Amino acid sequence: MKGFTVALLAWTLISPCKGSSGSGSREAWPTHIACRDGGLEMLYQSCDPLQDFGFSVDQCSKHLKPNINIRFGIILREDIKELYLDLALFSKGSSVLNFSYPVCEESLPKFSFCGRRKGEQIYYAGPVNSPGFDIPEGKYQVLLELYTENRSTVACANATVICS
Ligand SMILES: *[C@@H]1O[C@H](CO)[C@@H](O)[C@H](O)[C@H]1NC(C)=O
Ligand SMILES: *[C@@H]1O[C@H](CO)[C@@H](O)[C@H](O)[C@H]1NC(C)=O
Ligand SMILES: *[C@@H]1O[C@H](CO)[C@@H](O)[C@H](O)[C@H]1NC(C)=O
Repeated sequence: MKGFTVALLAWTLISPCKGSSGSGSREAWPTHIACRDGGLEMLYQSCDPLQDFGFSVDQCSKHLKPNINIRFGIILREDIKELYLDLALFSKGSSVLNFSYPVCEESLPKFSFCGRRKGEQIYYAGPVNSPGFDIPEGKYQVLLELYTENRSTVACANATVICS
């Protein structure tokens, strides 16, 4: 919760400046803590050159429940009539799992923010489905990308998950 507030604040403060400063010698976005509790630590960093975003998981646990509560805040770079999430999981440098999940589909808008327009700020706090399982001990790298039906990036992040 506290982590999220900080991330969200940082995101709100930094985004407009970064957006107008143009590309070039851009520094990496700061690393945020999505959660750190119950033997699990999730850190993430935006890999979208244009903006950072806020994300947190309410109850961190290595026993992943089928329903987890997340908080997510971002300024939309694109209309999100349709939105997809791609996730790639790596362990010790090798690919473990690829996963693609439709978040918003025109015929099946799963979340209240589906259909929102470019330039709007969205903030979501609520449940998401997860494949409930026990995360094996270890350190994982995760690449996440949210994109539209036209393959335009909405958000991109690389994360490190440490389960002990
Ligand atoms: C994201 O990737 C960069 C570059 O590979 C790396 O330096 C950084 O530690 C990663 N951040 C997280 C939170 O995994
Ligand atoms: C995606 O592409 C379709 C067809 O090319 C176009 O009508 C639509 O406006 C595009 N959507 C976005 C978000 O750019
Ligand atoms: C995941 O996708 C990447 C790139 O398409 C591929 O190289 C890798 O083998 C895939 N990993 C698995 C576990 O299917």
